[in-house]
Parts: sequence; C-alpha cells; structure tokens
Amino acid sequence: MTPAYRLADCHLHFEGSLPVETLEVLGRRAGHRFADRTAFEDARSAVRDAKTFLSLYADVCPLFESPADYGEAASAIARSLASDGLTYAEIYVSPEIAARLGLDASACLREIDRGFREAEAEGAIHCNILLDAVRQWGPESAERVLDVHEKTGLASVVGFGLGGDETSVPTAAFAGVYARARALGLRTSVHAGEWGGTESLTEALDLLRPDRVDHGIAAASDPELMERLADEATTLWISPTSNVATGVVGSIEEHPLPRLLDAGVRVAIGADDPLFFATTTAREHQLLRDQLGFGERTMRQLAENSWRAAFLSSSERDRRLAEIAGHHPPRGRTQPSVSS
Ligand code: ADE
Ligand code: ZN
Repeated sequence: MTPAYRLADCHLHFEGSLPVETLEVLGRRAGHRFADRTAFEDARSAVRDAKTFLSLYADVCPLFESPADYGEAASAIARSLASDGLTYAEIYVSPEIAARLGLDASACLREIDRGFREAEAEGAIHCNILLDAVRQWGPESAERVLDVHEKTGLASVVGFGLGGDETSVPTAAFAGVYARARALGLRTSVHAGEWGGTESLTEALDLLRPDRVDHGIAAASDPELMERLADEATTLWISPTSNVATGVVGSIEEHPLPRLLDAGVRVAIGADDPLFFATTTAREHQLLRDQLGFGERTMRQLAENSWRAAFLSSSERDRRLAEIAGHHPPRGRTQPSVSS
C-alpha cells in the first residue's frame, strides 16, 4: 500500500513494530510459543483492553535474548516500514525492558542503532529512536533510561517519552525526569488521554510540558481542552486502530478524530504497534479515507502535520513540507470539513 503523500510515523514502539516473520524467527530461537504464528494470532485476537494489551506486549519481550537479537530486529523493522511506503520513523525503545531481561541495556540500544543504520545503508528508511520509560515502573526506572542515554550518547536518540499503563503512577512523579530529558537536549512526548481521562491529559500538559502527545483522544470530550491544544499547537499523534483494539473507542466510525480536527487540534497519524494491531501506517491513513470519508485536503494536512511534529531539524522539516506543497493529487471537493 503506497500512501498518497510522504509520511513520517513518530508513534511506533519497537517490539510492536516487529514484522511477524521476525517474531517467528526470534520465537524459534528462544523456544517461545510465538514461534507458532497461530499461537500469536490467537493471543492477538484476545486483546480487548489496556490490561490484555499490556500483557501481550510483556509476553513478546522475552523473545529477545541478546543485543544481537535487537540489532537484527531493528534492521527488519526499518525494512518493513520502508516496504509500507513510509519515509521516516521515530520508534520508542525501552532500555528498561532489556535490563529486566538481564541484558546490558546500553549494548542493546547500540545494536538497535547499528541495525537501523545498516538497513538504511541498504535502502530502508531512516529511523530515529525515542527513549521510552514505562510508567508503571516508576520515576527511578525512568531516570535509568536517561542514564543509558548519557552513557551511549547516540545521535539517533532524538526524544524521550512515557508509555505503559496511564492509570498507574501519577504524572507528577515524572516532572523531574522530563526536566532532565530536556536538559539533555531531548525533545519529549507522553502517552496521555489514551486510557486516562481529560484530567490525566491536562496534568501531562501542565506538569511534563511535552512537545507532543501520543493519543490524547480524551480531549475530544472537552471543548476547552481542545481549544488549549489548538492554541498551543500541540500535536496529538493518534492511532485509530489501536484505540479500537484497546477498547477506548467502539469502532473506527465512532473515533473522535473528526471532532478534534474540526476544533483545530493538530493531529498526526501513527500505527502505534503494527504487529499487535494488525495494521500499518499506510493502512491507518487509508482507513480514514475509506471509513471516515476523509478528503484530499485533510489527508494532506495529516501528512504535513507528521513532518511538522517530527523531531527533525527545521531544514529537513521544511524540505518535506515543500515536497508535499509541490504534490498535486486529484482534485476533490473543497468544502472546509474533514471530507474535503
Ligand atoms: N506501549 C506500546 N503501545 C502502547 C500504548 N498504546 N499505550 C501505552 N503504552 C504502550
Ligand atoms: Zn504508543
């Protein structure tokens, strides 16, 4: 599936972006039940909420037994994102997952960086890294993630974010970690307003001051919060299929994305975890055309937003925006709604 516009997806997670073939290879090597694709597909189809999703995520993590496994997976991920027609990606990597598996987290991160570079040299897309802290493991674990960054100093690490169970450790506990991440020169994002409500999203904005937000769809129930997001030009990196799979939205047709766009909120689209949600970035965009009736103007706006909110240099961002401005898709209707 080739998207109509060049796209960046900056809301992807490492384990959740593994091609299923790589999952099988790692599974056979590790003697893991997901060596059998049917076993994995059965487990995937049992996901219905945050708890079952996080449990499946945790089940996949022990497939990695060495830094080299991470490097091999990184190359496979960069190649599969390229074959989906993506142009650029920022991928969340959780060094604390590797540490909990008894591996050297810094060595695993260096291997991921090497795997991405190797695949790029062979024609895959450019992938940068977002360091991810797991909320339920608390602020000390998040500080160790930044320690790994200080130790490794990889240029491909461009940002820091918080994922995991939004309803676990209170946001205030991470304010110091975010301040340290910024002092280290990292851009920031946070998973908020996904499984938590508007208060959780407001707290994340007030206390963490992120450059962008992953999901943030709770804002759609609060006109004032949508106005704030629009005024502050904070991008919500939204993943519609993920939201349906984890039970926070009933169906794609009921997704609040059109409401957010109509309120002037800046939105970009990401696949989140293509492996777990049986989707891709291109597919997420196609769904919006096919199932929500989004027109050319909106699709172009979503593509532009993906470059505006990417943690790239301003010259690279402007080059990508100019490319889209010079791209003339088939003419469509021109009324000012998401169908245009
Ligand atoms: N980790 C991977 N995917 C996630 C999501 N959608 N929310 C929170 N943490 C995650
Ligand atoms: Zn996510």
